Amino acid sequence: MLLYYFLTFFVLATFCRADSIPIAPAPWNLTVSEAYAFVVAPPPSPAFLPPGFANPLEAPELRPGVILPDIGLILIVRYSAGPVGPYDELIYIPGRWAYNLTDSGLRITQIYVTTNASVFNGRTNWNIPKHQADFNFTKLADGSQTVTVSPPGDLANPHFSAKLTPTIDPVPVEINTALTGNYLTLIQPSFPASPTNPVEVGTTTWKQLLLNVQTKTLTATIISGALPGGKIGNGIGFPDIQPLLPVGGRLSGTLIFPVPSIVRNL
Ligand SMILES: *[C@@H]1O[C@H](CO)[C@@H](O)[C@H](O)[C@H]1NC(C)=O
Ligand SMILES: *[C@@H]1O[C@H](CO)[C@@H](O)[C@H](O)[C@H]1NC(C)=O
Ligand SMILES: *[C@@H]1O[C@H](CO)[C@@H](O)[C@H](O)[C@H]1NC(C)=O
Ligand SMILES: *[C@@H]1O[C@H](CO)[C@@H](O)[C@H](O)[C@H]1NC(C)=O
Repeated sequence: MLLYYFLTFFVLATFCRADSIPIAPAPWNLTVSEAYAFVVAPPPSPAFLPPGFANPLEAPELRPGVILPDIGLILIVRYSAGPVGPYDELIYIPGRWAYNLTDSGLRITQIYVTTNASVFNGRTNWNIPKHQADFNFTKLADGSQTVTVSPPGDLANPHFSAKLTPTIDPVPVEINTALTGNYLTLIQPSFPASPTNPVEVGTTTWKQLLLNVQTKTLTATIISGALPGGKIGNGIGFPDIQPLLPVGGRLSGTLIFPVPSIVRNL
């Protein structure tokens, strides 16, 4: 057992040196070049979380609790600058979990990013259960674009694919903390490390943080599924769900991930 522990530590230490994953503690100020947000209906209870809502290893930690009749979100975000450099991300937030009379928080249960630096540090800093995936953004002649997110090196079996079509010119909509208040609180359970991928580290304490979003413009954007049958998710690596409305917002601005507070120890 002890030997196993030391071996794991050694492999991890060697890995992080060899592949030079930068250690980038919170806070992170990120420049968002493009972000898309679509509202989805939260399930009535955790029993109804759709297949693909989380990675199988992490699902037992990410499922339990009480889900409020609030909103869920699908987010697609392209960061052009930040402590670990540019990366892209796809997020599923099924809804807001209630904890006690005072605390409730959105929970990210499924999330893909383009870089291992984002995977390692996102897990370490905030319990965000990131996995690496390959993203393909392709601009089309009509001003729309497709985004496809696939398992590493497996372009034939995408988790997610959608076409995004802007419908109007950007309108000035300033979103900031004065508007969002505590609404963008995330409370993230701890989860185990991957037994096979040293970048997918685990954590042992729950973390809570309040996202700080600052935007200047909003562009109404239509989403349509680009997987066979008009699906957006394959129901394995991402839920096979549709947004409540096919129209969402395209935003740009900054996003700050602050130093989290630790809300529970295991
Ligand atoms: C991050 O943003 C906050 C709030 O706008 C600012 O006070 C802080 O100086 C920024 N930090 C960096 C490293 O840019
Ligand atoms: C990226 O997506 C576009 C549009 O769906 C497709 O034509 C292209 O072949 C894809 N590229 C790769 C490398 O899969
Ligand atoms: C991420 O790290 C894993 C090893 O854990 C490696 O197999 C994979 O190639 C890396 N991916 C990228 C995009 O760096
Ligand atoms: C619940 O309430 C207590 C205080 O009564 C607080 O310390 C704790 O952090 C709260 N939140 C969670 C997620 O347990």
